[in-house]
Amino acid sequence: MEEKKTVFSGVQPSGALTIGNYIGSIRNWIDLQDDYNCFYSIVDLHAITVPQVPKDLRKNTLDLLALYLASGLDPEKSTIFIQSHVSAHAELTWVLNTMSYMGQLSRMTQFKEKSKRSEENLNAGLFTYPVLMASDILLYQTDLVPVGEDQKQHLELARDLAERFNNRYSETFKVPDPLIKKVGARIMSLQNPESKMSKSDNNENGYILLLDSPDIINRKIKRAVTDSLGQVKYSDEQPGVKNLINIYSAFSRNSIEEIESKYEGAGYGQFKKDLAEIVIEGLRPIQTKYDDYMKNKDYLKEVYKGGAEKAERVARKTLRKVYKKVGFIPR
Ligand code: AMP
Ligand code: TRP
Repeated sequence: MEEKKTVFSGVQPSGALTIGNYIGSIRNWIDLQDDYNCFYSIVDLHAITVPQVPKDLRKNTLDLLALYLASGLDPEKSTIFIQSHVSAHAELTWVLNTMSYMGQLSRMTQFKEKSKRSEENLNAGLFTYPVLMASDILLYQTDLVPVGEDQKQHLELARDLAERFNNRYSETFKVPDPLIKKVGARIMSLQNPESKMSKSDNNENGYILLLDSPDIINRKIKRAVTDSLGQVKYSDEQPGVKNLINIYSAFSRNSIEEIESKYEGAGYGQFKKDLAEIVIEGLRPIQTKYDDYMKNKDYLKEVYKGGAEKAERVARKTLRKVYKKVGFIPR
């Protein structure tokens, strides 16, 4: 039997998840579980590159685990773990830091954007963030990394580092490929369809959270920015409507064409009303399950402990090879 390929992905526990995170990332993880050997991490080491309140970080980490499970990640099929539980991530990062070029790291879009926002707290962790991400991926000999469009550049860096290490020493890391879905790869802000939907948006009408109540979802979609053309068409001239069609398509699994023809001649009112309904119904089962998991902290603990053990075994094996090739003496 051919061995299953490996998938790795992660999300930061930095507060509530938006439907952008869900559509662009987590939802795509679910379908991969049967055919791949999947590792899904809660990347708390990444989260502290911006200041965190310790008790909030603890809460957000468990919250995210509950959301992973509520969305359909299954610990029987996939390895679900908390990044800081597997120390090899930090250890490999050090080695790869010494092989990363300042120039390349300073060209990372996410770094440039985040450093603009936090000039007075420009910590080195923000700069080497993508190296930690490369370590996450490379430790597991990952074939595929399902992420949203915004992470593509970081993936490119992970590939470069893998190749650089393999060339300098000898074949050690698998060179990973990104897996980016076309529909929903980039869900935009409901208030400003030129920028991506993000939970760090100052205007809360710009995003929908996975745990938003039906009333709030209705209100946010009603207020979503459209245009004066008044037609439900998927076009770059109508970025607001295009984004809403993407969300509609992601939740209903209807194609763009089906949606366009369904609303031909109809105004935005009906379209938005239906969209709100689809999103609300799509999120309802996740919200119900989330509540159940949050009531069962013992189960959550069991999941992350089991996950860490499985992840640790694989990660250690790669790190041992790396240390040996670099010239460290085995203990
Ligand atoms: P973050 O919340 O930035 O840590 O992102 C977690 C995951 O969600 C990554 O795979 C991102 O690519 C994805 N993601 C975040 N925001 C969006 C968005 N607006 N549209 C699509 N994917 C997104
Ligand atoms: N940097 C990713 C983000 O912000 C999260 C992440 C960390 C990740 N490590 C990863 C994603 C490894 C995929 C693979 O979305």
